[in-house]
Amino acid sequence: MIERLEALRQKALSEIKAAKDLDVVELIRVKYVGRKGELTSILRDMGSLSAKERPKVGKIANDVKLALINAIEKKIESHKKSLLKDDNILIDYTLPGRRDFSGKKHPITLVYNEIVEIFLGMGFELAEGPEIELDYYNFEALNMPKHHPARDMQDTFYVENDWLLRTQTSPVQIRVMESQSPPVKVIAPGKVYRRDYDVSHSPMFHQVEGLMVGDDISMADLKGVLTLFLHRMYGEDVDLKFRPSFFPFTEPSAEVDIQCVICKGKGCRLCSWTGWLEILGAGMVDPNVFKMVGYDPEKVTGFAFGMGIERIAMLKFGIDDIRLFFENDIRFLDQF
Ligand code: DAH
Repeated sequence: MIERLEALRQKALSEIKAAKDLDVVELIRVKYVGRKGELTSILRDMGSLSAKERPKVGKIANDVKLALINAIEKKIESHKKSLLKDDNILIDYTLPGRRDFSGKKHPITLVYNEIVEIFLGMGFELAEGPEIELDYYNFEALNMPKHHPARDMQDTFYVENDWLLRTQTSPVQIRVMESQSPPVKVIAPGKVYRRDYDVSHSPMFHQVEGLMVGDDISMADLKGVLTLFLHRMYGEDVDLKFRPSFFPFTEPSAEVDIQCVICKGKGCRLCSWTGWLEILGAGMVDPNVFKMVGYDPEKVTGFAFGMGIERIAMLKFGIDDIRLFFENDIRFLDQF
């Protein structure tokens, strides 16, 4: 019986060695170590052995079985490795490659950059101011003394004492005029903060301020600059409307409306069936503001304007909820 086992071991090992593919290896496995295989049938004959011989033969039979299983596993392993090397077989060059996820600019950054670029193109310079601002710059110097009712329009986050989170970029006007003499031609983009949260208000948002001061700067200059800007932003064919308004730091003041980007002026839900959308505030710098910074209102004139970048972006991309900008859902951000 031991001889039969040894003969089987030799025969099976050489067959495994010679096998050309995995199907043949499987057939060999079934033939020798499967439930109805040759090794199993030899083991079944062990009953005829003496009690003395049985453990000895049993051990050899087990050795043979393990050796065969081992050899089969090794064969499968090396066969797989050789397949991987042979690129005609396993590598399918028609499969699409795995794409790396690549980041994109945030829609607010895109519009922010576009606005800045348009104004730099018109000769404006960049200015900036602090986000934690003094009451004096955010209100007082802008012709909004304490208890001025216009302060109420901007729900303010107060920090402590006279410090607050700026509610607008207008204080940068004051800081610029305090630090340089006319002529001035700046834009000041940046973050502003208000206690507000709904579909069209976010506690943090962005504004761009504009200020141009010099000899004989008139409302016509303001109109020309803003018309050029809005035509660059929304296309030459968009209609504009300059509407009288009020801001404490400009006199006269105006608001600019653009023709509704959704209904093109016919009237829809977005524009409350008026055909127009309010897009920015502007005006001629109030003489009181010039006095605050030591400019002579008899000698210089100027205009200022301010706009919300989120609003510009919402109207440009047709987005109806400002909060989408700050939720950072990749599916939203991926579209720009
Ligand atoms: N600061 C104003 C606001 O946040 C916007 C504004 C209006 C800025 C008129 C200006 C301006 O410079 O002239 O509502």
